[in-house]
Amino acid sequence: MKTAKKLKKVSAFQAAGDKMTRTSFDKTALLYNFIEKRIWDDYTSACKIIEGYLTLESEEKIIDIGGGTGLIAKLLRSKKQNDDIMVFDLSCSMLQKVKDPSLSLTQGDATAFPLKDETFTLAILINTLHHIPQTKQQVALQEVFRILKKQGRIFIIELWYPKSFLTNLFVKTEKIMVGKTHHLTPDKMHLLVQDAGFHGIKVFSPKNYHYRYVTTAVK
Ligand SMILES: C[S@@+](CC[C@H](N)C(=O)[O-])C[C@H]1O[C@@H](n2cnc3c(N)ncnc32)[C@H](O)[C@@H]1O
Repeated sequence: MKTAKKLKKVSAFQAAGDKMTRTSFDKTALLYNFIEKRIWDDYTSACKIIEGYLTLESEEKIIDIGGGTGLIAKLLRSKKQNDDIMVFDLSCSMLQKVKDPSLSLTQGDATAFPLKDETFTLAILINTLHHIPQTKQQVALQEVFRILKKQGRIFIIELWYPKSFLTNLFVKTEKIMVGKTHHLTPDKMHLLVQDAGFHGIKVFSPKNYHYRYVTTAVK
């Protein structure tokens, strides 16, 4: 009984956290592209890492999970004119900022995709996982596994940095803007991706981007 009560409390806390993430990104949407392009170097770095490390096959069906305002999808579209690219995000306001009509948009939660099994050949998550509560990151990766076709690939970019005054400041600023974040160590990421069922897992720091790491794996 006591445990059931505790669980109820935990899930109520998580639901509040999810709502907070959504509401925060709804509010940030207006300024998101400006902040990403001019203030943080997240977008520029992600573009360069994608250019350097993501190989696109022919006839991909791509889902950009936590794709936000579609900045990354836009980059992918510039490379692949005919492929299906879906921008998937929790926040409607972020999705409303996607201007390219050739991108399909779906609102939902990555921990329970409203999407069929084995639909996509490539799933990308750029700076998304750390916005998902730790207790749900594993479920999110299992869900990504479910919606990927056999031999489908996952490509993740995440932030990881040593503790210092500046990085603490960054985490605190991010917390004020979009709620608490849940950064994974590269080792923990490897474990979660493996437990979700993926193989051929590689976790590495791209050259010149020491505070970021890439994870790639195959279903
Ligand atoms: C830092 S932004 C990254 C946006 C985009 N990937 C980019 O690099 O420009 C994180 C995004 O993840 C989304 N997000 C957070 N939790 C999510 C969830 N559970 N399911 C889907 N999207 C989520 C947020 O709404 C937000 O748009």
